[in-house]
Amino acid sequence: MTQEDLFKNIIAHAKEYGFIFPSSEIYDGLSAVYDYGQNGVELKDNIKKYWWDSLVKLHDNIVGLDSAIFMHPRIWEASGHVAAFNDPLIDNKDSKKRYRADVLLEDHIVRLEEKIAKEVAKGRKRFAESFDEEQFRTTNPNVLREQAKIDQIRLEMNKALNENDLAALHQLILDCGIVCPVSGTRNWTDVRQFNLMFSTPLGSNSEGASQIFLRPETAQGIFVNFLNVQKSGRMKVPFGIAQTGKAFRNEIVARQFIFRMREFEQMEMQFFVKPGEEMKWYEYWKQMRLRWHLSLGLGEDLYRFHDHEKLAHYANAASDIEFRFPFGFKELEGIHSRTDFDLASHEEYSGRKLRYFDPETNESYIPYVVETSIGLDRTFLAVLSASYREEELENGETRVVMRIPPFLAPVKLAVFPLIKKDGLPEIAQEILKILRLEYNCLYDEKDSIGKRYRRMDAIGTPFCITVDHQTLDDKTVTLRDRDTMLQERIPIDNLPGIMDDKLNMKHWLGKLT
Ligand code: GAP
Repeated sequence: MTQEDLFKNIIAHAKEYGFIFPSSEIYDGLSAVYDYGQNGVELKDNIKKYWWDSLVKLHDNIVGLDSAIFMHPRIWEASGHVAAFNDPLIDNKDSKKRYRADVLLEDHIVRLEEKIAKEVAKGRKRFAESFDEEQFRTTNPNVLREQAKIDQIRLEMNKALNENDLAALHQLILDCGIVCPVSGTRNWTDVRQFNLMFSTPLGSNSEGASQIFLRPETAQGIFVNFLNVQKSGRMKVPFGIAQTGKAFRNEIVARQFIFRMREFEQMEMQFFVKPGEEMKWYEYWKQMRLRWHLSLGLGEDLYRFHDHEKLAHYANAASDIEFRFPFGFKELEGIHSRTDFDLASHEEYSGRKLRYFDPETNESYIPYVVETSIGLDRTFLAVLSASYREEELENGETRVVMRIPPFLAPVKLAVFPLIKKDGLPEIAQEILKILRLEYNCLYDEKDSIGKRYRRMDAIGTPFCITVDHQTLDDKTVTLRDRDTMLQERIPIDNLPGIMDDKLNMKHWLGKLT
């Protein structure tokens, strides 16, 4: 199966089993907006809780915040978003389709990389056992030619983006001979900047209303509350403020399911440090955040760092943690050293001092900030895509199983009576009554036991408890493991302890301390 087909299957599965629905579907949907279904909302909340607890619960010097989505419009001037939160857009005059200029160039680079991959595959076939890929890539003239093209395009693209040189971007698209994927022509408009923030009037009548923005990141709510939290919590630098919440961006290239949405959720933490110490903390948080991802157990080879060459207007160092989605390695989380840009700018725009008084040195300063910013929806997609398996079983049947990390699974436990009579449902209900105080549980007595197990595999339920006739004699049940499909006989009285060992989030949090 190709990665493209796999991704289509994951999207279809997510809808069929109540993880994610297209928004407003009965009205033909709303582009790049999605709803989380009954299983999706549980998985999403569990991921959010794991992120929150790993920062706020495990660190004395990190506290939480929930700031409003609506904020004073001057905030977005101070942050630079009004002037600089833009995408460079280009239209094809024949198809009337609009594209991001840098994405057209990136896609062109991918095509050149595919050419290189084909050359490498040919070489591997020709030289068989004696094939040395490293040597081939550094000596084959066709590979070298295409690689030189890629390097040159990247160089010119980054320079044009850094210098905001839209004419140079336009020229590069023409020089590369890029055609519109729809019309197939090179009939392009000039490149223009397009601001990604949504705006809306605030106030009851149009005359008195002022234009406000839906926040494009949660971070600014943290910056403008920096002193409130520092003073009310008597926080000492270094300290962090964590926040989760919705963010909105009018993305032009909205594709790849929930990877790039117009309404999405971020989990951000701003860590305030003494100026001059930011690089130490930047490296610290890069490693800590990678550890958090690895602790999910999805696979070490699915993650990599990508250090930025082109830095955002506020950063002096930045790196992404990329995840291998079915459509390739893409950004999952950003770790940015944001200097004192935001606090200094809010000082200037608001006229209020945003300084920290250091009681040890008796000096006041604007702290520097190291930010960790992760997309909740992208993390959800990472878990979903890494967990999805279509497995062939020994008896020739196939099953779709979501190998979701047990502590994140939407339903942790299913309780089944083997049949609907002989007092078995009553015992199953008794077990449920106890376990549902701790875990999200599901009771099911319909269909054969095999079908019930399959339904639980499909939503990633790690354990199924079955009450059968032996239960009547010895008060034991079977406990079935989702991944191994093995069943053990367990005394009912032991269930709470065993489940605690296997499902409690504290065991995963413990690995982070
Ligand atoms: N405060 C810094 C900031 O917002 P960002 O790299 O623009 O940085 C941080 O966004 C994270 O938010 C990204 O790594 C990604 O996971 C998520 N994100 C950004 N735009 C998104 C979108 N349109 N849809 C879904 N997630 C998005």
